[in-house]
Amino acid sequence: MLYSPTLLTSITLQAMTILRVTEVKEPLIIGKFYLVPCVTMPVDIEGFKAGKPIPVIGDLHADPSLGVSQLHYHYDRRFIKPEIHVGFVVSVRVCATGEEIHPKNIFWKRRKCYCNSLSLPDSFCPILEAEFGQCRLINRRCPHKNIPLNGLQPDSDGNVICPGHGLKWNLATGQLVSRFS
Ligand code: FES
Repeated sequence: MLYSPTLLTSITLQAMTILRVTEVKEPLIIGKFYLVPCVTMPVDIEGFKAGKPIPVIGDLHADPSLGVSQLHYHYDRRFIKPEIHVGFVVSVRVCATGEEIHPKNIFWKRRKCYCNSLSLPDSFCPILEAEFGQCRLINRRCPHKNIPLNGLQPDSDGNVICPGHGLKWNLATGQLVSRFS
């Protein structure tokens, strides 16, 4: 198939302007496309068929201090169609045979943004606020599990809720803000 030079230039420019979501400083623009880290699972999970890219945020981790020993990623629900109902984590599954099924390595995919803020319950916050109250954001990443806070829409006080486990951070000062005050 032959493409006109104008069309090729337009396609190239579009490809060049797609940013990695981790590099975006401003709140994400709903409807815009970004490059997003994804994993695949070899089995169907929630709204995703086996082998289909699943947008995730942050690294593979466990949370033993929160009673979660299973390794998992967190869904990046900003890039998942609202009609697909997912929980919070893409976790290692254990088959009936005892075999572990792991999410496959992270790769970057072009994905549309459906929202730029996430509501998360505060159920983990009593434990985490006690542990991280004196910590600061590091390069706009949550010090709990290094989850990037880039692209989130702050509230009127400049605070965002971490998409990992719900800690609230002030983006200007980098300080933790209690969800119970
Ligand atoms: S990564 Fe756990 S609260 Fe932010």
